[in-house]
Amino acid sequence: MSLTVIVCTGPVCGDRRGSGKLIEHLRVRVLARGLEGRVVVREEVCLGHCLRGPNILVGDQVEEASGRAVLYNHMTIEDVDRVVERHLVGGMAVRALTNLLPIPSSPPKPRPR
Ligand code: FES
Repeated sequence: MSLTVIVCTGPVCGDRRGSGKLIEHLRVRVLARGLEGRVVVREEVCLGHCLRGPNILVGDQVEEASGRAVLYNHMTIEDVDRVVERHLVGGMAVRALTNLLPIPSSPPKPRPR
C-alpha cells in the first residue's frame, strides 16, 4: 500500500508557522528510511484546520477519498520523526499527535436560511 503525506504550506502553516522546514525534513527522512517507493510527499495550500497548524495529513488513496486519513496537528521536527517511524514505517497512526476529528471529504453544505 502506498501512502500520501500532505504537508500544508498555506498562509498559516507555511508562512506563519514554518512548515517549509517540516517538508524538507520529511523528504530527507523518507529517503533515509528507503520509503520513496511507497510514500509520496506533496504540499497543499490549506487543509482547513489552520488554528491547529502546522498540519500534516497521512493516508492512502482510499482513506483520503473517504475522509479517514489521519490529520496531525501542531507538528514539529521531532513529531515528523515520530510519524515517519510509527506511521510510515510501522503502519500505526500516532494518536497523540492527532485531534481525532474526521476530515471532511467535501466542502460543508450551506446552512438553510
Ligand atoms: S494554512 Fe494550514 S490548514 Fe490552513
